[in-house]
Amino acid sequence: MTDSVYERESSGQERDFELSLRPKRLAEFIGQRPVVENLSVYISAARKREEPLDHILFSGMPGLGKTTLANLIATELGANMHASSGPALERAGDLVGLLTNLEQGDVLFIDEIHRLPAPVEEFLYSAMEDFHVDIQIDQGPAARSVRVNLKHFTLVGATTREGLLSAPFRARFGVFERLDPYPAEDILQIVTRSARLLDLPMDAEAAALIAARSRGTPRVANRILRRLRDVAQVRGKGRLTLELAEQGLRMLGIDAIGLTELDRRILRVIAEQGGGPIGLKTIAVAVGEEEDTIEDAYEPHLIREGLLQKTPRGRKLTDKASALLAR
Ligand SMILES: Nc1ncnc2c1ncn2[C@@H]1O[C@H](COP(=O)(O)OP(=O)(O)OP(=O)(O)O)[C@@H](O)[C@H]1O
Ligand SMILES: [Mg+2]
Repeated sequence: MTDSVYERESSGQERDFELSLRPKRLAEFIGQRPVVENLSVYISAARKREEPLDHILFSGMPGLGKTTLANLIATELGANMHASSGPALERAGDLVGLLTNLEQGDVLFIDEIHRLPAPVEEFLYSAMEDFHVDIQIDQGPAARSVRVNLKHFTLVGATTREGLLSAPFRARFGVFERLDPYPAEDILQIVTRSARLLDLPMDAEAAALIAARSRGTPRVANRILRRLRDVAQVRGKGRLTLELAEQGLRMLGIDAIGLTELDRRILRVIAEQGGGPIGLKTIAVAVGEEEDTIEDAYEPHLIREGLLQKTPRGRKLTDKASALLAR
C-alpha cells in the first residue's frame, strides 16, 4: 500500500466514496463553527432579502471541505450549482458560455481559483462587480466590443494558495473564509459519522486512533477509514477494533506520529544535505513527487509537527527531526 490516503487527487472510485460521505445540509457539516455560523447568517439574510449572496472565497489546505461548503451554499440557497476550475478555464472565451448561462442567484464555483490565467481573471472582474462582460469581436480595424449583461450570480472560489491571488481579485470577494485543520475531537465526530454511514461497527479506541492520524483533515480521515474497513472485513469479523486499526495503519505505512514513508523520505533528503536549507525543487526531484503535492499535502503536517522549517533560503530540518531520524 502507498501514501495515497494523503494525496491531493482522488481516483474515480475514491471520488464516489467521498461524494457518498459528503454532508447534504449545512447543519450536518461538522466543525469550522465560525465559518459555518457566518455562512448561515449570510445565507438567511440573502434569502430574506431575496438577493443573491456576496461572492465568497474559501482558502485552506486540500481536503478540509471547501468544495463541500460550496455545494452546501447552493443547496441552502436553493440555487443551481455550476462548477469549474482554474486550470479548466484557459481562455476568457471559456468563461463566456458559463457566465451567460447563469440564472439569477445561481452559484458559480471555481475550484483552484489561483490557477486562473491572468487574462481570464481580469475578464471576471466586471462580471463580479457589475454583472456584465465586454466581448471582443472581430480583429484589426473592424474590432469592437459588445457588452453582455449577466444575471446576478454568486461566485464561490476555492484556493489552497491564498497567497497567489492578486489583491484586486481578492478585493472583489465580499466574504473571505479560511478553513483550518480540524481539532481531533471534530475529526472523531466526522469518522464516527462516516462509519455509521458505511455501516461499519467500530471501537471507540479505533476511532480515536484514526482521528489522531488524520492530520486534521476530513478527507484523510475518510480515506483511512475506508482502508481500515477492508482490513476489518478481511482480517476480522467486520468490526473495526483497535488492534485491527493499528494493523491497518501499519499496512498503510503510517507510523506512530502520523508520518508516512514519503514524509520520512522528505526528511531524509534534507538530512542528506546537512539538514538544509535546500530548495523545494531539489526535494521534489529527489523523492519523485510534484512540488505542489509536497507543498500542499506534506509540508504543512511536517511544519505543524515541528519537524520542518521554511526559510527564505529553503527547507530546513529542526532539531526534533534530526533526533527522530537518528533513532
Ligand atoms: N466538516 C465536514 N464534515 C464532514 N465531512 C467533511 C467535512 N469536511 C469535509 N468532509 C469530507 O471530506 C471530503 C473532502 O472535502 P472537500 O472535497 O470539500 O475538500 P476540499 O477542501 O474541497 O479539498 P481540495 O482542496 O482538495 O479540493 C468530502 O468528501 C467530505 O466527505
Ligand atoms: Mg475541492
